[in-house]
Amino acid sequence: MANHHFGKLADVWKHLVLDEVLAEMNPDRYAETHAGSATYPMVDDPERRFGVLGFLDGLASDDALARAAFPRVVSGFPDDEPSTYPGSALQAMTLLGDGCAYLLCDLDPVSVEDLSTWAARLGLARCEVARRDGMAAVRAWLEDPAPMVVHVDPFDPFERTDGGLSAVELAAQVADAGHTLVHWYGLSHPGERAWALDAIQRLTSAPLWCGDLVVTRRGGGTRSDGDLGERTTPGTGCGVVLANVTPALTKRCETLAHALVDQYDGRELPSGGPGALDLNVHRPA
Ligand SMILES: C[S@@+](CC[C@H](N)C(=O)[O-])C[C@H]1O[C@@H](n2cnc3c(N)ncnc32)[C@H](O)[C@@H]1O
Repeated sequence: MANHHFGKLADVWKHLVLDEVLAEMNPDRYAETHAGSATYPMVDDPERRFGVLGFLDGLASDDALARAAFPRVVSGFPDDEPSTYPGSALQAMTLLGDGCAYLLCDLDPVSVEDLSTWAARLGLARCEVARRDGMAAVRAWLEDPAPMVVHVDPFDPFERTDGGLSAVELAAQVADAGHTLVHWYGLSHPGERAWALDAIQRLTSAPLWCGDLVVTRRGGGTRSDGDLGERTTPGTGCGVVLANVTPALTKRCETLAHALVDQYDGRELPSGGPGALDLNVHRPA
C-alpha cells in the first residue's frame, strides 16, 4: 500500500464529505484519480485516536454526525478480524453497490490488486481498476456527459505524469464538464488556507464550495506551521472543494463540519494536550 495516512483526521473530513455527496447523489458513475487501497490494517495509535477511532467513539454526542453516511459505512469495518479501515474507493463501492459504474485509478500495484479483489468480492459488474495515471484515465471519462462524481485526492496536486494534466487542472475540467467534483487538499502554513479553492477557481468559472479545517491547540491561534504528510500537529490542515452540488448538500456538509468542530473541542492531540479545529467555509458568490 502506498497510503500510510489512512484513518487520520484528514480522512475523517474527506470521507465525511465524500460519503455524504455519494449518499445524496447516488450517481450512476464514480471515478477516482488516486484511489489508494480498498482496505488498510487498522492501527490504534495517537493519530487514529485523533482520527477515525476518536471520531467513532464520540459519535453519540451529535445527531447529525451519528446519522451521516461516513460512520454508517466505516463503523462495520473496525470490528472485522483483523480490524481494517476502508479507503475511499471501498466506501464508495459499499455505498453505491452494483448499480454504479466505477473507474478506480492508482499507480501502486498493491493498491490496484486490493481494489480488484474487493470489486470481485462485492460482485461489481462494471468496475474498472486502472493501474495508470488517474488524471489521464479520468479525463477520458469526462467526454461522456452522463452525470458522474469524481474524487480527486492527490499526494502532489501539481505533479504531471508524462506531461499530462495535474490534479488541480483535472479538477477544473471536471467542474467545467458539469460533473460533481470532490477535491481533497492538505495544508501546512497559515497562508495556505483554502489554497486549492483559489487554484481551481482560477481555471474554471463553475461555482465552488470549500470547507477548510486547521488543527489548533485549544484556545490557541491558527498562526503556527504544521507538519502535513508527517504528523497532525497544530497548523496542519486540510479541506475539500466541491463543484456541481446542490445548495442543500453544501448546507448539510456545513452542518457536519460545525458538528465535527464541536466534537473535537478539547480532544487530545496526537502529540498530547487539548486540541481543537478551526473551520473556514467558502460558499459560491
Ligand atoms: C492519498 S492516497 C489515496 C487515498 C484514497 N483516495 C482514500 O481517500 O482512501 C494517494 C494515492 O495516489 C496514488 N498515486 C500517486 N500518483 C498517482 C497518479 N499519477 N495516478 C494515480 N494514482 C496515483 C498513490 O499510489 C496513493 O495510493
